[in-house]
Amino acid sequence: MLLSLAPLTVSLAALGFANAQTAPEELSSSLEGYDELSLFRSLLSAAPQALSTSLSGKTSNITVIVPTNDAITAYLNESKVSDVTELNIDDIETFFSYHVLVASLKASDFGDHTVVPTLLQGEEYNNRSAGPQLEQEFGSKATGQVLIATKRTDTSRRTKRQKLSGPTVDVRAGLAQDAEMTAVDGKWGPKNVNTFQIVNKVLIPPRTCSTTIRGQGDKLGALDSSLNKTELYPTLDTTPNVTCLAPSTEAFKKAGNPHQSLSKADLTGALLAHTLKQVTYTSFLEDGMVLGTYNDTTVTVHIKGDDIYFNNAKIIEPNVLTNNGLLHILDAVIGPEDETSSTSTATASKTSADSTSAPASTSTSDSSTKDNAASAFSISYPGAVALAAGLLIF
Ligand SMILES: *[C@@H]1O[C@H](CO)[C@@H](O)[C@H](O)[C@H]1NC(C)=O
Ligand SMILES: *[C@@H]1O[C@H](CO)[C@@H](O)[C@H](O)[C@H]1NC(C)=O
Ligand SMILES: *[C@@H]1O[C@H](CO)[C@@H](O)[C@H](O)[C@H]1NC(C)=O
Ligand SMILES: *[C@@H]1O[C@H](CO)[C@@H](O)[C@H](O)[C@H]1NC(C)=O
Ligand SMILES: *[C@@H]1O[C@H](CO)[C@@H](O)[C@H](O)[C@H]1NC(C)=O
Ligand SMILES: *[C@@H]1O[C@H](CO)[C@@H](O)[C@H](O)[C@H]1NC(C)=O
Repeated sequence: MLLSLAPLTVSLAALGFANAQTAPEELSSSLEGYDELSLFRSLLSAAPQALSTSLSGKTSNITVIVPTNDAITAYLNESKVSDVTELNIDDIETFFSYHVLVASLKASDFGDHTVVPTLLQGEEYNNRSAGPQLEQEFGSKATGQVLIATKRTDTSRRTKRQKLSGPTVDVRAGLAQDAEMTAVDGKWGPKNVNTFQIVNKVLIPPRTCSTTIRGQGDKLGALDSSLNKTELYPTLDTTPNVTCLAPSTEAFKKAGNPHQSLSKADLTGALLAHTLKQVTYTSFLEDGMVLGTYNDTTVTVHIKGDDIYFNNAKIIEPNVLTNNGLLHILDAVIGPEDETSSTSTATASKTSADSTSAPASTSTSDSSTKDNAASAFSISYPGAVALAAGLLIF
C-alpha cells in the first residue's frame, strides 16, 4: 500500500510532535556537505514526521546511521519503487527506528561484537527484552531491537574521499545481513549532542526464526525440515527471549540425519534441548556459564581462544538476530556435556546473570508454572520428554 505523504504530513504535524520537528532539519543540515547522502536527505524532507515519530521524544544522545545513496537506491529497487516519496510510511518509520542507536556513539565505542540497542520496537521486529547487561550499559529505556557492531582492528582508512573516511565497523543486522559502517563520527543537534555514522546498506530488521532460518537456505535446511516435521515453528516464532542453537545441515549429516531417522516426539525433545530460555549474545557469554533449555536440560559454555562452544558444539556463525532473540549456527549437534572437559574448564562455573530465565530450575513443574513461554512449549509438545538416543551418542 502506497500512501501519499502530503496529507499525512499535515495530520501528524497536527498531532503535535512539537520539538521533535527540529531534529529532521538539524540532521539534514549537518549532512549537507555529503553528496553521497543526498537520498537520505530527500527521505528526511519527504517524511520528516516519520523520523520524529521514530524518535518519540528521544532527540538527544542518539546516533543516526545514514545509508549511502547506493544503499538507498538498492533499497528502493527491492521495495519496487523508484522514489523515496513512494515508500510506505510504516516502512519509513521502521527504517528510521532501526537506524537510530540509543546513545551518541563514536568509533571508539564499538568493540568486538558490541550489542547496540536501536529505537526499533513492535513485536514483529522486537519480541525480546533487553536483559540486565544492556540495561546497565544503555539504561532501562534501551529496550529496542539491537545491532551487533565489530570494529575492524586493521585500522586501514579510506583516503579517497576525505569526508567519508573513518574506521570501518562491521554491522550485523537481521536475516544475517552484514553491512559496513564508516565511523565518520559526524556531529549534529544542539550542542552537537548527537552523532551520525555512514553505512553501505539499508539495515534489515530482524524477523521470526522461521523466516531467518529459511533465509539461510541449505545451510540450515535440515533444521528447517526438523522444525517443520515437529510443528515447533508456531511456538518458536512467538516465544520471546530465545536462543536457537542451530546445528548446520552438515552437523545434522555428521549426526546421522536425525531429522529423517527420529520420530516426531524424539526430534521435538532434541530440538527443545537446542533452544535456550534466554537471549545469549556472544559478547555476554562467559566460560563455564550454564544455560537452561526448553527440554529442562542445561548446556555449558566453553570459550577456547576465539572459539565458543555449547558443550561439544562450536559456533560457526554467531549472533544471527531474530525478532525474539537470536540463533548461533553450530558445527555439531549438541551432545551431553563431557565429564572430563566440564571438570577441567568449569572451575569458575557460574549461572547466567539473568536470574529470571536462568537454569536454576531443572524440574519440569517448576519451570512450567514460573515461565509462560516454557508452558507454551510443554503444553503444545508433551512428546518432548521422549528423547532421542541417536542425538546423544557419538
Ligand atoms: C533492481 O532489481 C532487479 C531485480 O529485482 C534487478 O534485475 C535490477 O538490476 C535492479 N536494478 C538496480 C538499479 O539495482
Ligand atoms: C526476557 O528476558 C528478560 C531478561 O533477559 C526478562 O527480564 C524478561 O522478563 C523476559 N521476558 C519474557 C517474556 O520471558
Ligand atoms: C548517553 O547515553 C549513554 C547510555 O545510556 C550514557 O552512558 C551517557 O552518559 C549519555 N550521555 C549523555 C551526554 O547524556
Ligand atoms: C518447511 O515448510 C515450509 C512451508 O511449508 C517450506 O516452504 C519449506 O520448504 C520446508 N522446509 C523444508 C526443508 O522442507
Ligand atoms: C510476542 O510474544 C508474545 C508472548 O509474550 C506472543 O503472544 C506474540 O504472539 C508474539 N508476537 C509476535 C509478533 O510473534
Ligand atoms: C530431554 O529431556 C528428557 C526428559 O527429561 C531427558 O531424558 C533427555 O535426556 C533430554 N534430552 C536432551 C537431548 O537433552
